[in-house]
Formats: sequence, C-alpha cells, structure tokens
Amino acid sequence: MCGIVGFVGHQGDALTFLFEGLKRLEYRGYDSAGIALATNGAVALAKAQGKLAVLEPLLGTLPRGVPLGIGHTRWATHGRPTDLNAHPHTDCRGTIATVHNGIIENYQELRSELIAQGHTFVSDTDTEVIPHLLEAYGGDEDLLGAVREVERRLSGAYAFLAISAKQPDRIVAVRRSSPLIVGLGEGVNYVASDVGAFLPKTRRALVLENGDVALVTPDAVEIQTQEGALAHRAPFTVDWDIKQAERGGYAHFMLKEIMEQPDVWTDCLMGRVRGDHIEAGELGLPWSQRKNIRRIQIVAAGTAYHAGLVGKALMERLARIPVDVAVASEFRYQNPVLDPGTLVLAISQSGETADTLASVSLARQLGAPTYAVVNTVGSTLARESDYVVYTHAGPEIAVASTKAYTTQLLVLTMLALQLAAERGHARSDLVRALWSLPALGEQVLASLGKIVEMARRLATESDVFYVGRGIDYALAMEGQLKIKEIAYIHAEAYPAGELKHGTLALIEEGTPVVAIVTDRVMAEKTLSNILEVKARGAEVWAIVDAGLPQEWPVDHLIRLDLPDPLLSPALTALPLQLLAYWTAVHRGQDVDQPRNLAKSVTVE
Ligand code: AGP
Repeated sequence: MCGIVGFVGHQGDALTFLFEGLKRLEYRGYDSAGIALATNGAVALAKAQGKLAVLEPLLGTLPRGVPLGIGHTRWATHGRPTDLNAHPHTDCRGTIATVHNGIIENYQELRSELIAQGHTFVSDTDTEVIPHLLEAYGGDEDLLGAVREVERRLSGAYAFLAISAKQPDRIVAVRRSSPLIVGLGEGVNYVASDVGAFLPKTRRALVLENGDVALVTPDAVEIQTQEGALAHRAPFTVDWDIKQAERGGYAHFMLKEIMEQPDVWTDCLMGRVRGDHIEAGELGLPWSQRKNIRRIQIVAAGTAYHAGLVGKALMERLARIPVDVAVASEFRYQNPVLDPGTLVLAISQSGETADTLASVSLARQLGAPTYAVVNTVGSTLARESDYVVYTHAGPEIAVASTKAYTTQLLVLTMLALQLAAERGHARSDLVRALWSLPALGEQVLASLGKIVEMARRLATESDVFYVGRGIDYALAMEGQLKIKEIAYIHAEAYPAGELKHGTLALIEEGTPVVAIVTDRVMAEKTLSNILEVKARGAEVWAIVDAGLPQEWPVDHLIRLDLPDPLLSPALTALPLQLLAYWTAVHRGQDVDQPRNLAKSVTVE
C-alpha cells in the first residue's frame, strides 16, 4: 500500500531523509515513487515508475540542503503505474505539491469542475484533484486555510500531505481514515504513514486521529479536528527496536520472520498464561462481554481469515460456542444478521485493511460488540473496535504474513480456552501446555532443513493441491495462499474427503499434492485420501504428526513432534511457510515484495 513521508525543518536535507524514509516503507508494497522539495518559490520534483532504484538516479536533479519536502511510494489504484501517475502531484503553477494515500471517491466530478475552470491535469489519478483544488482555494497564500476548504470537498477514505513553495515552513497533513503519524524532532518534524519511516531520527511521535488536520512546522504541531476545534494528541515514545525492522542477517524478511516465531510466541503468551489458567483480563475482552456471547462472527481477509477458520474450530470444539467466519469483503455487503449477543471478532495484522474496518463499522451500527485481534498498536482497527487484544508479533515486513498469522492462532487459542473454562469445559492440561509451544517451535524449525530440497522439486510445478481435514484443511488453505502469493504457483486447497466428488479427475501422473495430517481422529481417513491420489499417480508431500501410528507411503515426508492437535496449528504452519519460501527462492521470485500485492490493503 502507498507510503507517505514528509520533512519540515529550520535547516537540514529533506532529500536524504525522504529517500531513506521511503526505503523503510518499501515493505508496504509499491509500484512507483517520488519526492518533491520546496525550493526558491517552486516545487522541484523527481518521480518514476518502478522501485526506488529507478528513482535514485533522478534525485541528482534535485537541490540538496532544502529543509521542506514530501515523498511517496504508490500502489496503483486509479491509473496505471506510470511516471506521470506517480506522486507527488502538483498544481498548474508548480508551487503546490501533495502526496496521498487512499481513495478520493468523487474525484471525477471534481476533476471535471476544475478542468472547466481551466486547470490542466497530467495524470489519471484521483490524487491530482487535491493540488488543483488547493490552487483554486489560494493554497499559496494560506495553505492551511485552503486545505480546510479542500477537505470539505473530498469524499472517501484517505490521508494526504500538502506543501507550498510559497510557504516553505510548513506541511499540512490530513487524516481521513488512512493512518498518519507525526515524528517529533528538535527544530524539525516528520510526518509518515508508518513510524518506521522516521524511527532512526526520533522515537517521539503522535498519532493523528481520524478527521484531524495538522499544521506541522519545524517547532510545532497544531492540530484541528474535523469541526475546526484545536485538539491535543498525546505524544508517546515508540518502543520498537529498530533492529526488529531489519533483516537480522537473513536473505529475506520473510525467512527472518519465520525463524523468529518461537520468540514472538513467547511475547504473545507472556503475561497471559500463568500455570493452568489464562489471565482473562489480558485478553482485552471484559467479563461483562464474555458472559453474554451467544455466537461469534469472525471477519478478516487473506491469511487473517485463515486464522479465523482455525479459531472457529478451536472455539466450537473447546467452548461449544457457534462461530461463523466471513471474508470481510463479502461480509460488509451481506446485510448480516447481528445482535448484541453476537461478538464480531475482527482479525488483522495491519489493523488498516479497508474491508475489515468496514465490517467492524457495520457491526457497530447493527449493535454488535466488536473485538479486534490486531498486531499493529494504535492502528485504526484497534482504535475503532470496542475491545482489542494485540498479537505482539512485532513489525512484519514481508508481504507474506507468517509470524502475524501464528500469533493470531495463539491468541485465538487462549481466547477459546478461556471461554471454554467459563462455560464449564476447562482444559487446564492444554493451558499448561501452551508454554511448551516456543520450545517445540524451535525444535520443528531446526528439523526442517530437508525442506530446501523438497521445495526444489515443487518449484518446477505450475499447479499444486493442498489437502487436509478439519483444522488441517484450514491450515491447507493458508499453505496454498502462501505458495500462490510468493512462488506464483497456482494452488488449491481442498478438504481431503471431498476430492472424490469431482476434483479427483484432475489427479494424474505427477500431480503435486501437499497433505496435512495432524488430527489424530481423522488421520486414518486422510490416509485413505492420500492413497486415492497416490493410486492415480500423484506425487505427495505429506506433513504429519510423528506420533501417529500410520505408515505414510508418500514421496516426501515431514514428521513433526506435535502436542495435542488443538495446540498444533502454529507448529504445523512452520513447514508450510518454509515450503512456500524455499519454492519461491528456487524460482527466483521477489519473496518479500511479491508482484501485484501490498502489505496493507487500505483500499476496497
Ligand atoms: C497474507 O500473506 C497476505 N499478506 C494477506 O492475505 C493479508 O493477510 C490480508 O491482506 C489481511 O491483512 P491484515 O491482516 O493486515 O488485515
């Protein structure tokens, strides 16, 4: 998703900061980038389609030592990824520049109006209406006043920064849904869509609230609410370790994030599991809500949705609470049946996924309590839900979600165990065993060296099936998404017992099938399904619980030392993640930033 960065100082080199800041936002996924500086009464601009390496040589045309500028990484929504569509965008005179995240829904009508007034547009973007409107409302004379006028004209969910070369001491920042954070320095301030952009410069920050308009100068941040009242947003200290956002010696962020899972599981369990009980207060959902739950509706997207599928199985089996799981982009338009007894549980790594946010907003309108399982502290979802629990996975940089997913699984497990205990189905044996997971995770990761070669074989394929039953099917769903998104191999997850109802016709000599078998109750059944595909020539990669008594007549076998199947999903996810990772590496793909994808999908 698009990234925003801004610099305003009494002195200093905005250009160097902006380029470094954009590099730190690369993980969000983008297809073009650009920087604008306010210099000598005009905006100096460099922008290009492609990665920052394409932009870098163009920066030689920009002046050094200019203390006001804005930068952007764009993920195309309106208009193809081209040089002209890249941000920043400017007005007709080239004195005002803006960068923008999100969508201006009424841009076509505004564009027609501005063209009729004589403005000239050079891009296909929705963004370009902003600098032209600012020009029309006198932004060169009073940038803040013009921004206030302009944001009254815009519909949509967005954030933008505006500068004018005629007022070179200020950035005006607007937040309408998409996140914006101000980094506080000495004689310099920064604005970004993500704290990571300015972390090497300052750890003091404040988060703009929805509707805020901020006048950011080198020494001050003046914030107005949507209604125009002055507002105070409390500064806080960012406690992320910058090293957490670096690769830590691994070839890719994804591999680093896979390998650090046992550590983040410890962080996730910390303070929440004590002996044989869960510290319910640490799950963020008060007893007054927990006791009223009659039904749970999970909403999420992508990997988070797959975590929800596992969560459903856990909560139904352990707590005997009925749970539905919906893809957020569908749920928001389904006119769902909700009531105060239905807890709407939203799961999201970023906390900024537009469809998930809209689902929560709808749930609140319909009177259902909302509860978010989120990784990103201070994210919109965390702030707009009634209750929140954080997964504590740390910053996840690779687009493919790994550690965020498994910490979601752990939080859902803790929640299921707590709800079970409160409904008379306590499983203190499972609660006690939760703390064995980090060590088991280390063991599993240490045992998976052979996956590198197993993946080499898979890397030559173009289609693969993932099969399992019950929770193993939910894991298969996640396994197939991982290999699609980073290895670009078509994959399909199927309930193993359903194959014979049609899909078995596709199995022929050499068809790759990844089978997951951790559920002891259904292991024999899944083995039969494996034999069915083997009999038709399939090549099978099987991931199985080493404690199962069966023989596995497969081509590639991974045995995992697993605890109870209800505690195993996070462990079983590890070989699925590594299989996808190494397959992508063997195919030479851009593992951390797969094509067409973004880390945080803040548009519908
Ligand atoms: C998974 O690897 C993807 N990055 C994607 O499916 C992701 O899980 C989805 O877009 C939801 O994102 P969120 O968790 O930030 O809401």
